[in-house]
Amino acid sequence: MSEPKRYTVTSALPYANGPLHVGHIAGAYLPGDIYVRYLRLRGRDVVYVCGSDEHGAAITIQAKKEGTTPQAIIDKYHEINKQAFKDLGINFDIYHRTSSKLHHETSSQYFKDLYDKGFFEERETEQYYDDEFSQFLADRYIIGTCPNCGNENAYGDQCEKCGTTLSPDELINPRSMLSNKAPVKRLTKHWYLPLDKQEDWLREWIIKGNGRNEEWKVNVAGQCRSWIEQGLHPRSITRDLDWGVPVPLPGAEGKVLYVWLDAPIGYISATKQWAIDNNKDWELYWKNKDTKLVHFIGKDNIVFHCIIFPTILKANNYILPTNVPANEFMNLEGRKLSTSRNWAVWVHEFLEDFPGQQDVLRYYLCSNMPETKDSEFTWADFQARNNNELVATLGNFVNRVMVLTHKYFEGKIPDGPQGDLKQEDIEFVAQIAKAYQNVGESIEKYDFRQAQNSLMELARSGDRYLGLLEPWKLYKIDPKRTAEILYNGLQVIAHLSVLSLPFLPTTSGKLRRLLNLPNEFEWNPGTVYLPTGHQLNQPELLFSKVEDETIAKQVTKLHASQPMTTPTEETPSTEGIATTQTSAYEPMKAEIVFDDFAKIDLRAGTIITAEKVEKADKLLKFTVDLGFEQRTIVSGVASHFQPETLIGQRVSIVANLAPRKLKGIESQGMILLAEDSAGKLYFTVPAEGTPNGSVIR
Ligand code: 2FM
Ligand code: ZN
Repeated sequence: MSEPKRYTVTSALPYANGPLHVGHIAGAYLPGDIYVRYLRLRGRDVVYVCGSDEHGAAITIQAKKEGTTPQAIIDKYHEINKQAFKDLGINFDIYHRTSSKLHHETSSQYFKDLYDKGFFEERETEQYYDDEFSQFLADRYIIGTCPNCGNENAYGDQCEKCGTTLSPDELINPRSMLSNKAPVKRLTKHWYLPLDKQEDWLREWIIKGNGRNEEWKVNVAGQCRSWIEQGLHPRSITRDLDWGVPVPLPGAEGKVLYVWLDAPIGYISATKQWAIDNNKDWELYWKNKDTKLVHFIGKDNIVFHCIIFPTILKANNYILPTNVPANEFMNLEGRKLSTSRNWAVWVHEFLEDFPGQQDVLRYYLCSNMPETKDSEFTWADFQARNNNELVATLGNFVNRVMVLTHKYFEGKIPDGPQGDLKQEDIEFVAQIAKAYQNVGESIEKYDFRQAQNSLMELARSGDRYLGLLEPWKLYKIDPKRTAEILYNGLQVIAHLSVLSLPFLPTTSGKLRRLLNLPNEFEWNPGTVYLPTGHQLNQPELLFSKVEDETIAKQVTKLHASQPMTTPTEETPSTEGIATTQTSAYEPMKAEIVFDDFAKIDLRAGTIITAEKVEKADKLLKFTVDLGFEQRTIVSGVASHFQPETLIGQRVSIVANLAPRKLKGIESQGMILLAEDSAGKLYFTVPAEGTPNGSVIR
């Protein structure tokens, strides 16, 4: 394709079954937002759509867990997530909902059109059914062992451990998510997408790249190739469920469209709603061959966006995606990010804890984006990036130039160099054009880390230029040269305000205010925004240092949010649904009177240090914060826990136990632990929010 006439850009519709965490943002939303902001900066015609994915078992299971209705769940999380995106500056043209009337009509009609063309196969097959709950067990309602990696808690549609897409029949030892019992099989009718008949053109389009116009990322192309080479099979695109878009056919009562059929059509219905609201023609964005379609997603969504959705797009004469730049996953402090395990940095909580610092999160996530392989969020790295890069480089450069211009030239743009330019000025000013070129090229290749790095390279060159020429020492002897240096620095800052817009929109706005410029941008390294004499506003710091205590607090919070154990891998959470306990119990001890119990002083606390005790295999030494004081406690749990995973663990303490010495260390209390029949230990955790030192009675 030559220059496209317009762009349709989508980011995966997140399930409205929980809040967004940093992994979501780094995967599918920040890259989409940067891309779109860049396209707009270049004057391109773009629509950027997203919204809540509100159907499927992900929603109904969450409703059961929270003891409420699917409608209450989607209403709650739609609002939370919409707000979190807004606060983070993720600038969709519309954040739609798949529960909307327009989406139901659109996806229903889409299905009907394909059905009328004879595109589907109808099949009656035996599927898993839970007799106790009188329900067919689609997708996440069934769990079992993954045939690929042995994970005992794989879902019927996907193993979250190895990422393999599954069908319920592939699970070994399947069990119902509802009753936790082995399911039975029952006959049911469904409609299938005959992917086997699509193989030829998919092979041409995906593997050979014919008609695609752009190279796909290695991880994306590789996954698709492996799917195609294993042979494509018909896939059922309807489900026996009472939550979703009803199948619009006679005799299909109680059946809905498979969520993975209706969700991507959500991109189309979102565009329709946006077109209605803005007096546009939605069809241009989905059916015109001069439109470039780009889907931003995480790697677990690749097959749906590269094989299944294109199949139905093509069948109804819609355009196909030019690119699907899927990202890998972001981990957190050495473990997989997990909603069900509460191992996450939640976006809405970050924004409460770091008010006004959305750009710091954007910056960190972009610099660490999992573009070609999984990446790692650590709080220490977050702090280092903020302090060493945003504060010490970008912020420092801007502040020094602003302060000196006010000090020496009353905040007015001084005279720039005249006549023959000095070599250092030529080299410095040349960085502007280089930055435009590098940022633009990298974004067009979906290499957002590199693009942001090129932006920072311009700030770094500014810092070096000042460091080399030291205008603060020069003014007394050479005010004219000082003026030239600051003039150059100010022009670079003006271009930083343009180039930072896709990555750090709030900072870009702050820069425009400092420079007293309107938010009107041009993608042109030659534009002179600041003529001599232009009055600047007062300097203000762009970023502030993140202190060690702030980071320690976040690490403590992360660990404190953990359930009693510190599991190392993801297991599906069945809380509130299945009852699974069959274990034997230890016999009860002899009865005591209340006064016996009242002698024990139990307190809530938090572990703040944990280390192995030298020459004692079984012992760990803890410092426990009891609010009013800190205690050293030695406990024989070294074979059960890694000490570093226990920092921040909330605990209940016997606080008036007489001290005793263990391996020469005085232990000043006891940590309470529960032990199951298999000998596994669990911390007895005071309820979230219980202050340290509170008495437990
Ligand atoms: O994986 C998910 O969170 C899905 N809700 C993504 C859907 S993307 C699209 F197809 F709508
Ligand atoms: Zn697996």
